[in-house]
Amino acid sequence: MGKRKKRRKKKYRIRNKRLFISVVAAGILVIFLVIFAAASIIGMLVDDKTDSEKKAVSKQTAESRETEKESKEVAEEKPDTSDILIVNKHNRLESSYVPDDLVLPESTLNGNAGRQSMTREAAEAMNNLTSAAAAEGYIIKVRSGYRSYSTQNSLFNSYAAKSGTAKAETYSARPGYSEHQTGLSADVTSPSCGYSLSYSYGETKEGIWLAENCHKYGFIIRYPEGKTDITGYVYEPWHVRYVGVEHAEKIKESGLTLEEYTGNEPAPDYE
Ligand code: DAL
Ligand code: ZN
Repeated sequence: MGKRKKRRKKKYRIRNKRLFISVVAAGILVIFLVIFAAASIIGMLVDDKTDSEKKAVSKQTAESRETEKESKEVAEEKPDTSDILIVNKHNRLESSYVPDDLVLPESTLNGNAGRQSMTREAAEAMNNLTSAAAAEGYIIKVRSGYRSYSTQNSLFNSYAAKSGTAKAETYSARPGYSEHQTGLSADVTSPSCGYSLSYSYGETKEGIWLAENCHKYGFIIRYPEGKTDITGYVYEPWHVRYVGVEHAEKIKESGLTLEEYTGNEPAPDYE
């Protein structure tokens, strides 16, 4: 072989070697790029999953907070009323039922212990009510408080004789069905209506004060206007019922009758 041919062959080998190295380097570069791209895609997918998991968790938390809030609201809307004694045309008292702690309130029409007493707690609340009213210039007196079964019997019979039974039943309870037998109710009156029991009492200054303020002392106007289909009685602006301040405030705020507030069925008639 000639010198020239040898040199050409050597040159050729060197070029081939360079080409080989370039191809290998490019191959390695491509492999790196592929690995890098794959890692990025996997990373993005993992991030996506984490994001959606995060969203799901926060959605779940928001939902459970909402449920918690709703049940709290429901609990607030439905107070425990098991301490409220319901007496109406569907719920009667035994003829022997007499509260054992009857006392005479301070402000009564004529201090009649048999007809104007109330349970100790209701009487104390009534004292607070009548003193607050007096401090603002309004005289309010208990005309009728606790009435025994037999007193209610005589009263109802006298009303029935006067107006007929059907009419009497719109404003007077049969014996055993009167809230007055609980010692928690009172018919109150004032000078503006000559100390009578008058349907216009609700328009007198004392009657207006009573309706606006009695809840602060734990009383409600038990037979509100337009609720005969639920309470069973016509509007009695003078008849208050003691239920305690907490219930009275809620009842006042809601505008519900005692039947509705306690979840009792309407009692328009005797069953
Ligand atoms: N006036 C009420 C309804 C009663 O007789 O108890
Ligand atoms: Zn009454």
